[in-house]
Amino acid sequence: MLFSEEKVSEIIEKNDIVDVVSEYMNLKKSGSNYSSLCPFHSEKTPSFSVSSPKQIFYCFGCGVGGNVVSFIQKIERLSYVEALRLLAERAGVELARDRDPKAIKEANEKKAIYRINQEAARFFYSKLQDNRMPMQYLTGRGLSEAVIKRFGLGYAPNEWQNLLNDMSKKGFSAAALHQAGLLAKKEDAGRYYDKFRNRVMFPIIDLKGNVIAFGGRVMDDSKPKYLNSPETPVFSKGHNIYAMNFVKKVAGLENIIIVEGYMDVIALHQFGVNNAVASLGTAFTEHQAKLLKRFSNEIVIAYDSDLAGQAATLKGLAILEKAGCMVKVLSLPSGKDPDEYIRKEGLEAFKERIKKSLPLIAYKIESVKKGLDTNNLQDRIRFTKGFSEILKDIESNTEVDAYVKKYSKDMQVDETAVYAELNRLRDKNKNGNNKHNIISDKKSESKMLKGEIIAETYLLNICIYYFDKAKNIFKMIEPEDFSVDLHEKIASLIKTKSDEGKTITAGEIISCFENEEVKLQAAALFSIELPEGKSDDLMMSCIDKIKQSKNTRRIQELTEKMNALFQAGEKEQANKLFVEIIELQKLRK
Ligand code: CTP
Ligand code: MN
Repeated sequence: MLFSEEKVSEIIEKNDIVDVVSEYMNLKKSGSNYSSLCPFHSEKTPSFSVSSPKQIFYCFGCGVGGNVVSFIQKIERLSYVEALRLLAERAGVELARDRDPKAIKEANEKKAIYRINQEAARFFYSKLQDNRMPMQYLTGRGLSEAVIKRFGLGYAPNEWQNLLNDMSKKGFSAAALHQAGLLAKKEDAGRYYDKFRNRVMFPIIDLKGNVIAFGGRVMDDSKPKYLNSPETPVFSKGHNIYAMNFVKKVAGLENIIIVEGYMDVIALHQFGVNNAVASLGTAFTEHQAKLLKRFSNEIVIAYDSDLAGQAATLKGLAILEKAGCMVKVLSLPSGKDPDEYIRKEGLEAFKERIKKSLPLIAYKIESVKKGLDTNNLQDRIRFTKGFSEILKDIESNTEVDAYVKKYSKDMQVDETAVYAELNRLRDKNKNGNNKHNIISDKKSESKMLKGEIIAETYLLNICIYYFDKAKNIFKMIEPEDFSVDLHEKIASLIKTKSDEGKTITAGEIISCFENEEVKLQAAALFSIELPEGKSDDLMMSCIDKIKQSKNTRRIQELTEKMNALFQAGEKEQANKLFVEIIELQKLRK
């Protein structure tokens, strides 16, 4: 547990949501709320609203909402913990780690490396401007001056201590430069020398704009083609996404295109594909998947069409899928990478390829299909097997049927043969965990009464608007009386606080839920306006409605039970229930 409940409350309390949101957008006061255009979807009339008394925001257009922490998470695209850290820093709330000497030392070490890398990037950039040969290499590959500047490309001269000397003059020690991964060390002589020599340099920048590492490319066919920074306190391989610092700022990001290399990203950006990033090399990791997912649910993979690229694509797909992304695959003609393709065929052709990118299942099926001959019986059997293997994980039968229809015809295999194979595979898997778990809600929806939900919603809002009424309310009604699970949980949070003589805001309630979906539901619940009129009258009629509904539901349940007992010949038991039902009915108005 990184943050105690008290710490979270303190952070939320000290960051007024109106102030925080104002740092990002122009808020206009309207009634007790503030409103503006929504930063999370594009719109022409403002439907984004911030409530000062409730300390929450909500967009009536796209349904995004939450407390101050959720706002920072969304606008800065940070994780929950990172958002809390940012807000803690903003409000000067001291965290335990701020006092931990080890953490302080680590933070200082990192800061020093960021500074060194920043200086080194400047050094490489100026060397590129001063040297014709590397500049010719880059422009010869079609890069514009603007894109070279935007990506901060540079050149490491063909000397052993050029960077070392320059940086020493600026007061950086060789040991520090070594720790930043910019120098190598001759073990026997203990002498330092520049790690990157005679290479064009690609700075790798993190989401906060820090230079965390470099990649350097030779300008001929020598090996290794790329040399990358070693692992350092600020750089771990597989934890970063190249160009994410740019893509994170794209408003209304629809999807993210992921490619393999530096040059692919830069070429795509130069041509106006502003949502391209690179995984840098083929070993795509879970960290990278999670990072991508933070910014977009839809990921288009555009890896090289060579064998290594295809294998990487399949592996990447699996990892992204596991992270919960909607994955599509963009395929390019063989032997082409995105850089070569867009330069040769242009932006429109590339966009067309994006449009035609295949969803995961279709891509997998296409890969199985590849190279098989429909005239060959063996190949058709092979297809049936591979095809069924892919289909067995699809949960929706209609979806399975659609694929079976389409591909059985294409591949001239018998539909029944596919289904037979599919059943065999599924039977084999049956002993494993059953995915079709039915999650039962507290009360089945059909039994939920009209008006009951709205009464519960109003009552919870009353508790928040007029917290001193909460104590009284929970003398008349129990959290268990609420029919919706979420309402019950919120009610019990409020009751607990009010029993302790404390208060709680809507924003704090939202922060009690971990699940994003639930947070949203809670935010939506607190975003309604209470109807005009006396709050006490509203309160009493809500309580009444909830109690009546509970009573009605109980009567329904008992009646069903009674009927069943009666049918089973248990007349005596049925009669007992009958009496109970009559009693309950007397309470009805
Ligand atoms: N890579 C690497 N080390 C290598 C080769 C490749 O780190 N020795 C990484 C680089 O990030 C590179 C990516 O893998 O950008 C893709 O490699 P590749 O397809 O070989 O290079 P391209 O990006 O196509 O580079 P170029 O067009 O300059 O040849
Ligand atoms: Mn290339």
